[in-house]
Amino acid sequence: MAKKVMLVGAGGVAGVAAAKMCQNPGTFGELLIASRTESRCLAIKTDIEKRVAAGVGAWSAAGKNATSISTAQIDAMDVARLTALIKDFGPDLVMNIALPYQDLAIMEACLAAGVSYLDTANYEPPDEAHFEYSWQWAYRERFERSGLTAILGCGFDPGVTQVFSAYAQKHHFDTIETLDILDCNGGDHGYPFATNFNPEINIREVAAKGSYWVDDPTGDKPEVAVETRKAFAKGWWVETAPMAIKREYDFEEVGRKDMYLLHHEELESLGCNLKGIKRIRFFMTFGQSYLTHLKCLENVGLTRIDPVDFKGQKIVPIEFLKALLPDPATLGPRTKGKTNIGCIFHGLKDGQTADYYLYNICDHEECYAEVGSQAISYTTGVPAMIGAKMFLEGHWRLPGVHTCEEFDPDPFMSELPVQGLPWRESFNPVRVP
Ligand SMILES: NC(=O)c1ccc[n+]([C@@H]2O[C@H](COP(=O)([O-])OP(=O)(O)OC[C@H]3O[C@@H](n4cnc5c(N)ncnc54)[C@H](OP(=O)(O)O)[C@@H]3O)[C@@H](O)[C@H]2O)c1
Repeated sequence: MAKKVMLVGAGGVAGVAAAKMCQNPGTFGELLIASRTESRCLAIKTDIEKRVAAGVGAWSAAGKNATSISTAQIDAMDVARLTALIKDFGPDLVMNIALPYQDLAIMEACLAAGVSYLDTANYEPPDEAHFEYSWQWAYRERFERSGLTAILGCGFDPGVTQVFSAYAQKHHFDTIETLDILDCNGGDHGYPFATNFNPEINIREVAAKGSYWVDDPTGDKPEVAVETRKAFAKGWWVETAPMAIKREYDFEEVGRKDMYLLHHEELESLGCNLKGIKRIRFFMTFGQSYLTHLKCLENVGLTRIDPVDFKGQKIVPIEFLKALLPDPATLGPRTKGKTNIGCIFHGLKDGQTADYYLYNICDHEECYAEVGSQAISYTTGVPAMIGAKMFLEGHWRLPGVHTCEEFDPDPFMSELPVQGLPWRESFNPVRVP
């Protein structure tokens, strides 16, 4: 039976998630889009309704018992108002596709209203460029006791990368020893500098120190100065200066790209959940123009997150920078090229060493033709919708707070190609040195 979902946020990713829900009216009967600026919710609703009426391609089945869409204005930081709105609408699930700053407030409101929760990025305090799961893992007992499920980080990375890891673990390895997550965006939007998702979150992520996870602090010799090695779970973090580790990789259908080691949230949960794992790294591709602009913005102080005095007013430079940069939701019509995101595993199967690469290639222009967005929002919004579908159909329902590798990957893997993100696999991949 079709269910009710409340979506918080109305940016690029929320627009795709809403569109994909409406392509699946058998699962998603009613959708409330609630965000800080209601006109953006209405713009998403109008665009979807036009596409449903046209019924072209992936929208062909959307018109039959079409999903009904309503909208509301909400500041998600106002827990009391948000709780009242959730209770009033009575959804089966709340999807948080606003910003990481809102995670804890929305989790509180879900607990107060007795509704399960899903998001795409882990909590980050606004005044500290630092993200980790501890803040949200602290909610485990409360969700468990309430019989509610919280699914964390259900985009592509985090999200699908953890589903890929669970699938590799289940079907292709006895032990995964190393995992490299490779995120390549070969798209070109024609601007000298723009970010493909929320500029503030994106710049805070890439300007941060890099880090990777190892199980043995003495065995791994980092190639750059190690600033700290903090014990975590059963392993250790090796921290590096930002962008200090660079590799080159030849990505299928994109070509050769420079990629840089970053800290990324899924390393933290995978370090706990992949048995036998010895090392996990995350690499993202960046072009020289992006890096030069970023360095310059950093050098002049425009990426600072602390308030500064300006003509008698306090402004946060990175928030001001966000106002100057193109809105990621507007990049769709300009972006050409493809993304290639996946996981390279190395480990043991039946006593033999084994290699396995699981990845998806996504075309920016095809995404735009289907839902009016570029591939970064698409590759995040589609998995968010699939995660919601998994919950609503009962495949991923487990009281407590969980990351995506903790659930059965098979039904999710079956949905990926059906919903627009076909995956490919290789048993003989080139490994990253
Ligand atoms: N897992 C992944 O692979 C992945 C990849 C990319 C992005 N993400 C995550 O996806 C999320 C959405 O990204 P995006 O690019 O769509 O961002 P975006 O375009 O900036 O949209 C964010 C939306 O949240 C709304 N919002 C912000 N603060 C709010 C508040 N206090 N109350 C209610 N609504 C609020 C914004 O409202 P306004 O319209 O008023 O500004 C906007 O509609 C982010 O958390 C991002 O980190 C995850």
